[in-house]
Amino acid sequence: MDGNYLSESLYNLQLILKAQMIKYSFLLAILNIFINPCWADATFYPEKNQLNIPYIRFQEQFYQANLSYQPPDKLKLEEVMNQAGEVSPAGIVPIYSDLSFHLSQINLSNQLYTADMSYLGDNIFQIHNLSESVVNPVSRTIFRSEHFSGSGICAQCHEDIKDGQGKDVSIVSAWSTTMMANATRDPFWQAKVRSELNRTPSQKETIRNTCTRCHAPMANEEARKQNDHVQGVFDSGILSRQNPYHDLAMNGVSCTLCHQISPNEPFGTEAGFSGNFVIDSFPTSTERLIYGPFKNVLTRPMQNFANFTPVYSAHIKSSELCASCHDLTTPYTDEEGNILSTGPEDEFPEQMPYSEWLNSDYAETHSCQQCHMQRASGVTIASQPPGLKTQRDDFAQHSFLGANRLMLSILQDYREPLGVTPTDFSSSILNAEKLLKGAAKLEISDATLENKSLNFSLNIDNQAGHKLPSGYPSRRVIVHVTVRDGNGKTVFETGKVNSDGSVAELDSDQGAAQFEPHYQLINSATQVQVYEAIMQDYQGDISYTLLRAKSYLKDNRLLPNGFDKQTVPNKIKVQGEANSDEDFIGGSDSIQFAIQDMQEKEYTIEAELVYQTLGYAFAQDLFSDKAKEVSRFKQMFDASTLKSSGMGAIIISVSGDK
Ligand code: HEC
Ligand code: HEC
Ligand code: HEC
Ligand code: HEC
Ligand code: HEC
Repeated sequence: MDGNYLSESLYNLQLILKAQMIKYSFLLAILNIFINPCWADATFYPEKNQLNIPYIRFQEQFYQANLSYQPPDKLKLEEVMNQAGEVSPAGIVPIYSDLSFHLSQINLSNQLYTADMSYLGDNIFQIHNLSESVVNPVSRTIFRSEHFSGSGICAQCHEDIKDGQGKDVSIVSAWSTTMMANATRDPFWQAKVRSELNRTPSQKETIRNTCTRCHAPMANEEARKQNDHVQGVFDSGILSRQNPYHDLAMNGVSCTLCHQISPNEPFGTEAGFSGNFVIDSFPTSTERLIYGPFKNVLTRPMQNFANFTPVYSAHIKSSELCASCHDLTTPYTDEEGNILSTGPEDEFPEQMPYSEWLNSDYAETHSCQQCHMQRASGVTIASQPPGLKTQRDDFAQHSFLGANRLMLSILQDYREPLGVTPTDFSSSILNAEKLLKGAAKLEISDATLENKSLNFSLNIDNQAGHKLPSGYPSRRVIVHVTVRDGNGKTVFETGKVNSDGSVAELDSDQGAAQFEPHYQLINSATQVQVYEAIMQDYQGDISYTLLRAKSYLKDNRLLPNGFDKQTVPNKIKVQGEANSDEDFIGGSDSIQFAIQDMQEKEYTIEAELVYQTLGYAFAQDLFSDKAKEVSRFKQMFDASTLKSSGMGAIIISVSGDK
């Protein structure tokens, strides 16, 4: 054995296996879905002092290897073998060109460890970062199923790319720290699915199917394509490593999902929304189309290395692409779990950003992508092949700016238990802060102090392309106003947000059965303006259970520019007192303040908007459930310091005439 043993033996094996492998990789796609593999990247047998790695991928071939342990931190390669039997997608360990690799699960007497290995030469590998953990599923993003591939496949070429100014605009890493990439790992989602299952056990199948459709779309779609039964979420469901759709699920809303959404019927119509996107099937994997925004792209590299054909299609730049999942209605039931809705027309409009946008001025000027995917120019969009020089403008960064600072920070803080891959979410969190800061404009006008009465109006302009807040109904925006006297002493305050996320004097945060109305005039500290959507069940009672929600008791979320509250379709109509508030219109709302008994000559008024991903009342309702996933999420939520985000503030001084 000499120093080149590893590469030599691998090379020889490649020759031997070449013929077999063609047949093999074809079978792989199908096998991936059906086998129930034995789950460990590697197993350590102390009695033999041997580490066995059953599935190694090296230059597109599969091997098995045995290594012997050399204390304290080295391993020696003993034998490399033809990979016999079936290959499980999740257990594959890819060896990189520098011969380094990562083992995300080393099984040692049923305790799991992770470690990185790098090659030192002479068949010796150095062990790095050995830790007692089950996570770090980097290798698990490198999988292929019949219809999809993991983001790790695309990372071979769509990483390490820069724009004309030299700024890194790598696609896979930008995407990996977004909520969409982590839609299945999201502990809030997991807790809510558990809670919905608890509350309506008779609709188990509907809940499983609906909730995974957009949050684990590749798993859901592949199971449908294989005519497999609806996959569960918990126990042996998609969150379990034993589940054949686990890797597809954990890759979230990924590359080969969005880029394969078909532009044909029912795309762009209501029948194609609520997760009813279509992914086409093709006779061979290479014919599968990856739709993109550019014409005349080089197709060979992707056909050869990713088994997809990239092709231009205008629909990828349209808001309708996003509407596939960002306009959704859900069925509702009575307390026994009988479904009362008869079809999409009378289902609950759970999230309607696309319809809101369609009924705003932005439908003419800005797509979702233009606000949520920042632009760059002068980008060579692939790092491979090396000769590629074509530079593209109007490149869309995959940072998918959102508002969910809370959950991004939780994903970062609980990486280990949640199995989160990327380590640094700071730029996504910063992006969310920036987006929120620019989402509204505040102005105080007509401020007067006369006859011991302080009067002013607070005007709020919505700068978003849809309602503010939009999306999931746990979101809310609180108007916090403080009036101080000359000594800085607070003499009036409404909308004070506590560190537990509750809002002082807010009805909904005091008891489950009540909520605060929309206000035109605020003259008491017990009145709090909150822009929010409050759900009601079929009997008109407040509900925070998605499957019970029929419609909204209150929806005074700020309207986008151009939105006409009289003429818009029912599903996005304003609900409650805001309907008759004449200055609650497309683009803005004004609140009049009239505060009595003001003895001083001068006051300062400070107004700010506070955004919450998960309002206190919604949270408390969820936390009343007894389940592991719920209490785990409660712990994370309670410990978070990012429950509330300031969206911008304004301060003015007012003096009386005498
Ligand atoms: C049609 C697609 C779709 C379906 C079906 C769907 N969701 Fe969602 N869900 C979304 C989108 C899009 C968001 C993000 C909206 C936002 O950020 O405002 C979301 C957000 C959420 C959130 C908030 C997550 C967070 O981090 O703040 C929870 C909880 C959730 N969904 C639970 C569910 C449950 C439970 C089901 C099944 C009953 C379900 N979803 C079905 C698309 C869907
Ligand atoms: C949520 C849907 C979505 C996901 C997930 C997604 N993309 Fe995209 N991608 C788009 C859209 C939309 C565009 C074009 C946007 C535009 O130009 O307005 C795009 C553009 C691209 C482009 C052309 C260059 C550019 O950015 O303009 C490449 C290459 C690309 N995506 C690769 C990927 C890879 C690789 C992944 C996985 C890490 C991925 N995409 C994940 C929606 C998505
Ligand atoms: C071997 C390298 C390689 C791999 C692997 C790869 N791509 Fe590409 N990709 C390219 C090249 C090269 C182009 C064309 C660049 C050009 O002509 O400007 C491209 C173009 C694209 C485009 C733009 C198509 C258009 O018409 O606008 C998208 C979208 C895309 N790739 C997505 C993906 C996804 C998703 C994956 C993972 C399944 C992937 N790529 C894997 C090299 C690769
Ligand atoms: C004019 C720019 C603009 C356009 C166009 C736009 N958005 Fe937004 N979006 C924003 C801003 C600003 C926020 C942050 C404020 C908020 O949460 O509403 C946001 C937030 C969101 C959120 C998170 C909402 C929440 O609070 O949980 C989702 C989801 C979203 N947008 C989806 C979309 C979709 C889908 C489209 C296209 C139909 C779209 N956006 C079009 C600017 C825009
Ligand atoms: C396959 C379904 C699907 C498609 C298609 C899709 N999304 Fe999403 N998106 C989701 C889900 C699910 C979430 C919520 C993830 C979570 O919070 O757990 C989400 C979350 C987001 C967020 C984060 C919101 C926040 O509050 O931080 C943004 C921004 C977003 N999507 C933008 C887009 C845009 C823009 C498009 C179109 C280019 C798009 N999405 C297409 C499913 C989808």
